[in-house]
Amino acid sequence: MGSSKEIIVSGMRPTGRLHLGNYFGALKNWVDLQDKYRCYYFVADLHALTTAYDRADAIAQNSRDMVIDWLSAGLDASKCTIFVQSHVPEVAELNTLLGMITPLGGLLRAPTFKEQLEEIFEKKYAGQMDIRDEQGIPQTHAEKICKLAQQQLLELADFGFLGYPVLMATDILLQSGDYVPVGQDQVVHIEIARDIARRFNDVYKENALKEPKPLLTKIPKVPGLDNRKMSKSYGNTIELGDDVESVQKKVMSMFTDPNKKRATDPGNPEGCTVYAFHKIYNQNAAAVEAACKAGETGCVACKKQLFELMRPEIEKFSAARKVYAGDIAQVEKILKTGAQAARENAQPLLKKVKTLMKLLQ
Ligand code: ADP
Ligand code: TRP
Repeated sequence: MGSSKEIIVSGMRPTGRLHLGNYFGALKNWVDLQDKYRCYYFVADLHALTTAYDRADAIAQNSRDMVIDWLSAGLDASKCTIFVQSHVPEVAELNTLLGMITPLGGLLRAPTFKEQLEEIFEKKYAGQMDIRDEQGIPQTHAEKICKLAQQQLLELADFGFLGYPVLMATDILLQSGDYVPVGQDQVVHIEIARDIARRFNDVYKENALKEPKPLLTKIPKVPGLDNRKMSKSYGNTIELGDDVESVQKKVMSMFTDPNKKRATDPGNPEGCTVYAFHKIYNQNAAAVEAACKAGETGCVACKKQLFELMRPEIEKFSAARKVYAGDIAQVEKILKTGAQAARENAQPLLKKVKTLMKLLQ
């Protein structure tokens, strides 16, 4: 069994190729942490099923692709454990057990549950949501969603989907994670994992489950090309695997201060996507800020400068990716070894939980 190093656990759903939001919000941290901690990183394929069980054709391919992206970005299988969630049956077992002690209230109130409901409703009811209040006044989008949520929740939401945070808590608690490196949007889920651990320990009067803490990067919310949060679902991403030409095109299309119409107009870098990326890539972002505010540089020049700073990393990543994509056998071996290691780490905890829950063993 492993060392006394503190434990890191994190996962990502295999819903498509990784983007710079995933990288700077979470994955870069994963890479940095693997030297200091005992790290468990996994493909959350069961979580992907909670919202796409009927559109699951791509899950296996996406899982493999995502691991290739991870390795190309610097995860090193000799330093950390990389596995696929569904290859570890202890996850399903602990998830069932933790479900027994988790009140519905917190899950129904989870903001991510509400947001995902909103998405489902939007797809299903696009354009036909004319709900009015008692005075006949059309309601805001959020209010409509609430009404519809109340009316149709039981029909549209699935058990697995509502249980998303329980499954996520399971992933973390099963490996006895101390820290969970994720982006800002996942922090609420880690709070729920802490609640579940505390509740279990209270009910069974033993400190069996460790309360995990989130670990954010300096950039917990990376903006997308349109300055909303970068996300696959907004179509505003730069993918880690994009080629140099498409990154260049995307950088040139980034959102900038709409009031800076000419190069010589003074601009406001706060709220400008290009500047947000300069803060990531440019050692001297302060100079960019000053030049923008003084109207000394235009947005086109500023974008070109940013792209040149990004170019070396894009090239490095795509070279690494070619190597891993050409050696699927190695990727599969990593996943097999990883699942074994994750199972071994999980089993004593699961046994302890079953003992505390007084199951016959
Ligand atoms: P997406 O929103 O594109 O579907 P995921 O929800 O799969 O991305 O996120 C995977 C990981 O990347 C999570 O840890 C999440 O917090 C992080 N992440 C995603 N988008 C961003 C972003 N724009 N900024 C910072 N972190 C992000
Ligand atoms: N919910 C996370 C996301 O959408 C993925 C995830 C599943 C996760 N289980 C986890 C992240 C456990 C951290 C720890 O990105």
